[in-house]
Amino acid sequence: MSQKAKRAKSVERLIETAVEAQKRAYCPYSRYPVGAAVLTRTGRVFAGCNVENASYGLAMCAERVAIYHAVTSGNDSIAAVAVVGAAAKPCGACRQVMFEFADKDTPLYLIDLNPSTGRRTVNKTTVFKLLPMAFDPLASGLLPQNPRNLLRRKLSGRSRPKPRVRSRSRRK
Ligand code: THU
Repeated sequence: MSQKAKRAKSVERLIETAVEAQKRAYCPYSRYPVGAAVLTRTGRVFAGCNVENASYGLAMCAERVAIYHAVTSGNDSIAAVAVVGAAAKPCGACRQVMFEFADKDTPLYLIDLNPSTGRRTVNKTTVFKLLPMAFDPLASGLLPQNPRNLLRRKLSGRSRPKPRVRSRSRRK
């Protein structure tokens, strides 16, 4: 199978997983079911659905559930994300969470599914396009280039390099 065909197949699997996840949404308060799925660079797919609570503010979006699911399973390198819902578009908080693990070109598939006809509209965009001028953990010096290096350093007992502090006179 060609690389292109393989890629198309994994995107199809990603979208189907998000469609299935939407059916498991726990949303008795909003009655707005959302499904999401994350494709990792190792080819694994993780699902998420929104999970609400009687204490409304505790609701968790499908996208974050899917990403946290992937990270918990040791996969923090995201190759693609799919979101399924009526006029699906990730909220601001989810965009920032996706930004943490995505690259400039990481595709984001927004799937609008009409439950009465089963008709789907798929829009392809990127996380970076949806969140211009994002708070960037790399640019702000909060993370070393590769976040996994941080974990490796922690595991090997080597401490993170101390941030450079500018002298008082230069700070003014
Ligand atoms: N929701 C998501 O799961 N993802 C989004 O991108 C937007 C909103 C959920 C949260 C809540 O359970 C319901 O949709 C209504 O806001």
